[in-house]
Amino acid sequence: MELEGTPVGALESFDIGVMRIVEVGRRQIGILREANGVVHAVLNICPHKGAPVCKGPVGGTMLPSAPGELIFANDGKVLKCPWHGYEFDIETGTSLFGITRGKLRKFPTEVRDGKVFVKI
Ligand code: FES
Repeated sequence: MELEGTPVGALESFDIGVMRIVEVGRRQIGILREANGVVHAVLNICPHKGAPVCKGPVGGTMLPSAPGELIFANDGKVLKCPWHGYEFDIETGTSLFGITRGKLRKFPTEVRDGKVFVKI
């Protein structure tokens, strides 16, 4: 079944692992393309206090670990808000370690004929 939606650009115009903000109607949506072909669309509003969350870095996080042990994980799967540093799982939209109950608002995407479409 074909997903209707708004075209936001050619797939190749989105660099892998780099969040780019596009306008869809009156909304700002961050588009993140993964190397595996998955494309995420995230509303550019942090669920904590409304920051432009998509302007934050995409990276990984440090997992809870034993004293003296450093475990970095989930590289490319974590969006960090630029205001207070809360980290969100880019796939589920939930905050890491339950720091807030708010979730990123995500929208379905589809790639057709080399273009990315977002269903608002
Ligand atoms: S506004 Fe995003 S963490 Fe506070």
